[in-house]
Amino acid sequence: MDRFRIRGGLRLRGAVPVSGSKNAALPILCASLLTTDTLKIRRAPVLRDMENLQRVLEVLGTASERLPDGSLVLKTLDESKSIAPYELVSTMRGSFAVLGPLLGRRRSARVSLPGGCVIGVRPVDLHLKGLRALGADLRVEEGYVVANAPPGGLRGARVYLGSANGSTVLGTANVLMAAVYARGKTVIESAACEPEIADLCRCLVAMGARIEGIGSPTLEIQGVDDLHGAEHSIIPDRIEAGTFVIAGVLAGGTVDVVGARPEDLDALFDRLTEAGAKFEVLPDGTIRTHGGATLRATDATTHPHPGFPTDLQAQWMTAMAVADGVALITERIFQDRYTHAAELMRMGAQIRREGPSAIVRGVRALSGAPVMASDLRASAALVIAGLVAHGETFIRRVYHIDRGYECIVEKLAALGADIVREEDRAMATEAAAGGES
Ligand code: EPU
Repeated sequence: MDRFRIRGGLRLRGAVPVSGSKNAALPILCASLLTTDTLKIRRAPVLRDMENLQRVLEVLGTASERLPDGSLVLKTLDESKSIAPYELVSTMRGSFAVLGPLLGRRRSARVSLPGGCVIGVRPVDLHLKGLRALGADLRVEEGYVVANAPPGGLRGARVYLGSANGSTVLGTANVLMAAVYARGKTVIESAACEPEIADLCRCLVAMGARIEGIGSPTLEIQGVDDLHGAEHSIIPDRIEAGTFVIAGVLAGGTVDVVGARPEDLDALFDRLTEAGAKFEVLPDGTIRTHGGATLRATDATTHPHPGFPTDLQAQWMTAMAVADGVALITERIFQDRYTHAAELMRMGAQIRREGPSAIVRGVRALSGAPVMASDLRASAALVIAGLVAHGETFIRRVYHIDRGYECIVEKLAALGADIVREEDRAMATEAAAGGES
């Protein structure tokens, strides 16, 4: 098992490229189940979550191959299989998005429930409600969702996907991919408006689907008889971009975050402006950050897009940990998504939990420490903390960060950070002694 060693306090300088979006790519890979033609995905990031999903798709009869230009080519060769097993689905929740396409195209599916994860319980009731509205018969048996379409296939319907926490991103993806083959018109009300869902819609349209209202909370889908192959470029990863912007503001020099879509980051820019951060968006879309100034403590509350993203909450907490004053951070999407707080406190941050909120009292400086990554975005928060802390930080269990950040060590090292990946011998010893691994 690997860990990161970061020696903090160096100024970051230079340009960092943004990779393709993980959360756009995952459901788009699942869309390959909707056709036996070839789907070519450009800017598909190389990530552990992608590899795990490719394994799930392989079990379902879809082969995938990386081309030398980095694009990923998927082709469904065998449509007779429709079981997505627990061993694979439990490693990554995104693979639950095979349910909708399997049900729409193959008319039956047996997909393992993904289970909870460190950021919370994460139910799938809205996915199931939406698919039932299209006429599917759904049962939960032995930890699996067993789904069957009625004899003539799914039928279009009005589907409402709202909940107390907003909509559901993967639930919208599932219902959308089922509805493209439903007879007649489906209207999804309170659909997720995340840019990743709009990107999935664009890919489906390129494959021959008929979808209106892309990017809005009302999606109208007119069912079609067949979809065909397509080529699609994944949008840049707004969360990776936001992570580098926060790192640049805290640990720069001047850092250019290149290849992002600034329009996807308005809520972050709003908070940064309020906090007195220095950054600008250049005419070509490059986000240029100027670091060095102490930020003002600034509250943030997570909301569905275009609100402040839950996937940047942990990184914002690192920023507030070294800001001037007291900030209130409130998590409205995943109320227990605070495992990073305890680790940041090991580095000297002053944080107190109050229900769904965290009160962060800024300190002058963090100090390097051994810390444990617990989930993907928590790991990103610890990396940023390590970059600004005095001394050395060791981040253990970095497999979490490998799920969603392409070449993060190489990208930060190219900006001048002192960061290396190395074998975590202590972890190996712990595992051998029967400790948690
Ligand atoms: N919810 C329900 N019922 C459902 C589905 C969701 O109550 O059937 C609730 C959830 O408990 C949560 C809220 O609705 O409170 C939103 O959850 P959503 O379904 O939108 O989350 P998701 O689709 O499972 C995706 C991303 C997450 C990201 C969230 C929110 C992927 C693969 N995952 O998850 O990304 O945090 O949307 O934007 O797209 C990450 O990349 O680190 C990550 C966790």
